[in-house]
Amino acid sequence: MRQVIFQNFRLMFTEEIDSTNQWMQSRIKAGESISNLVLCADYQTSGKGLGENHWHSEKGKNLLFSLGLDAGFIAASAQFLITQIIALAVVDELSVLTQEKDFRIKWPNDIFYQEKKLGGVLISNTIRNGQLDESVIGVGLNVNQANFPEWIPRPVSLRQIVDKEFDLQEILKGILKCFSHWVDQAKSMEGIGIINNEYHQNLFRTGEWHLYEINGEIAELRIKGIGEFGMLVMETREGKTIHCDFKTIRFLF
Ligand code: BTN
Repeated sequence: MRQVIFQNFRLMFTEEIDSTNQWMQSRIKAGESISNLVLCADYQTSGKGLGENHWHSEKGKNLLFSLGLDAGFIAASAQFLITQIIALAVVDELSVLTQEKDFRIKWPNDIFYQEKKLGGVLISNTIRNGQLDESVIGVGLNVNQANFPEWIPRPVSLRQIVDKEFDLQEILKGILKCFSHWVDQAKSMEGIGIINNEYHQNLFRTGEWHLYEINGEIAELRIKGIGEFGMLVMETREGKTIHCDFKTIRFLF
């Protein structure tokens, strides 16, 4: 595999792999350190999305990578922090690249442009003595793909938004730079306050009334913010506050 050193990251590039996240996990199983290791692929034969989902991406068109983080400084109960900092890093880089302000983080792990999905994040953590150990952070970002198959719900790519082609490696480096900044912030209480605030500022649909499916029923709700353990805090029209996890709530469009 081709290797490049960038700042404190070791970047590896491959043409094809089953899944970059899976590859990272097999490195952990083999007892290797994945800290600051990045694997970027042109194509995944078995790209994973959240739950049972498959992550589709046309060969060579989009950014597909996994990043290893030594997350020992984060308590297991605070693992949502990793979702927050990678999402902020992606949104920061997107705003720099396009001077667009319309990129949003759709809770918990999607990157949205207006009402469409530009990317997603898939994280798996190992835990030791109540602290996180190694974290595998997978990112899929639609960059240069012009068309998407019909079965993908509301996809969009950067090329569709700004009508130009982007250099994938440059975007990767930009995201990693922003990520390092947010990792530093995550190491202090003051920095965590800034992360929570920025995440909230960038959260899709915050403060707006929309329809959601909650425990199988449709309701009009408003996002108030993020609660303990990264739960989504919502308000009902009757003024009641509810805490939702990923399995209980579905965004409707
Ligand atoms: C989601 O939106 O459901 C998460 C998608 C995450 C996709 C990325 S692509 C690189 C990395 N390797 C994988 O198999 N999945 C993640």
